[in-house]
Amino acid sequence: MESLKRTKIKALLAMEPGVEVLAKGWVRTKRGNKQVKFIALNDGSTINNIQIVANTELFDEELIKRITTGASLSVKGDLVESVGSGQHVEIQAKEIEVLGECDPMRFPLQKKDTTLEFLRSVAHMRLRTNTFGAVLRIRNAMAFAIHKFFNEKGFVYLHTPLITESDAEGAGDMFQVTTMDLKNIPLDKKGDVDFSKDFFGKKTSLTVSGQLEGELGATAVGEIYTFGPTFRAENSNTPRHLAEFWMIEPEMAFYDINDNMALAEEFVKYLVQYALDNCMDDLKFLNQKYDEGLIERMQGVLGIPFQKVTYTEAVEILEKAIADGVKFEYPVHWGTDFQSEHERYLVEKHFQKPVILIDFPKDIKAFYMKQNPDGRTVRGMDVLFPKIGEIIGGSEREADLQKLETRIDELGMSRKNLEWYIDTRRYGSVPHSGFGLGFERLLLFVTGMANIRDVIPFPRTPKNAEF
Ligand code: 4AD
Ligand code: MG
Repeated sequence: MESLKRTKIKALLAMEPGVEVLAKGWVRTKRGNKQVKFIALNDGSTINNIQIVANTELFDEELIKRITTGASLSVKGDLVESVGSGQHVEIQAKEIEVLGECDPMRFPLQKKDTTLEFLRSVAHMRLRTNTFGAVLRIRNAMAFAIHKFFNEKGFVYLHTPLITESDAEGAGDMFQVTTMDLKNIPLDKKGDVDFSKDFFGKKTSLTVSGQLEGELGATAVGEIYTFGPTFRAENSNTPRHLAEFWMIEPEMAFYDINDNMALAEEFVKYLVQYALDNCMDDLKFLNQKYDEGLIERMQGVLGIPFQKVTYTEAVEILEKAIADGVKFEYPVHWGTDFQSEHERYLVEKHFQKPVILIDFPKDIKAFYMKQNPDGRTVRGMDVLFPKIGEIIGGSEREADLQKLETRIDELGMSRKNLEWYIDTRRYGSVPHSGFGLGFERLLLFVTGMANIRDVIPFPRTPKNAEF
């Protein structure tokens, strides 16, 4: 007999009946009676299971007993038309091999506790659930779509370093990188830590953003994007913050703030459309299980232009809302950074569409943002989304050498450590812009999950680096 090749379940479910097939996967459920067992098998290629029909006369009782939820199987049989499985085909089993048993008493995934909170405590096993299968496939589709979008536009994927000497932009506290013996730290004459003895000869940390190096790339090859891990040691235990997250940072020479906003809008719409076009089975599952408004909300952002509004106008809107009786936990006045409750009010209540906030007070934004002629605001932009708040942060960059240096001095930052960055403004400076999309924030939007810990396989948050 010629050997049969394994077919993935996604492909099997799309095939016509009448052929012999080989399927492999993990048992989701087993039910049935004395004569026949129905086994739902899943191999991760799709949210859908294939039903295996096992006539008990053909198999050892011992074998049937070993087929439990979580066990892995190899099944050979005939693909036949199905009447009751919810799929149009099922497999009439002829040979079943248990590849790996799964003790039902000890298996961490039990029917009785499937809350997302519980699943976080078994993150090594939660990937086997339907929910995390769906999230992982959507995450993969979004990563692919990001590369596709930028490659079709001729952007160069630039790999920026994860270990850095600079504190990029003061975007948050950094994780220090060192090989020094923490019990015996070398000190200099003044009693300070002597970093010249450390691995890199300087104090180094994990990066909070690839942007500054991204600007070096953009002012060389025109348009680049980065896509990599980013680290922030902020002690914020919120459903929207991770200590290790992934960011996509495009940076474009010759783009002003309007070009930047247009690209950001086109980009996120492309990704949402891609998810709708390519992940519908998983979206339907998540829509039904966690978030009834998911698919509708995704479709909702596609048809309409995002609302552009200045920070100053937004403050007026929020102040008026407060005067009308809307309650916020945090105060709002010109000069404060918005909290996510304010962002969500603007998006969900006031405009009822995604918002692009521009022209922020310079004191709440990073040193590199282009200064407006008014002397008090900068050309930053934040894209705000329903249910999430800020999903993108970016700006046009200050291209003027003098203005940039003055701002660095004003903020008491060290020019010396930034000489390499300032060189872009010394030699052939050009107007340029860029932004950063938080990959997991995007995933919150396209999966409907409510907690950012549930859209990354192995979340890193304060006091939690297990698995
Ligand atoms: O607004 P941020 O801090 O901007 C930058 O880092 C710029 N260098 C980007 C640029 O212009 N190239 O961060 C960008 C995005 C945020 O809008 C948010 O979506 C996400 O990164 N983000 C986080 N996501 C998860 N956990 C955190 N702790 C995050 N901090 C920021
Ligand atoms: Mg930001």
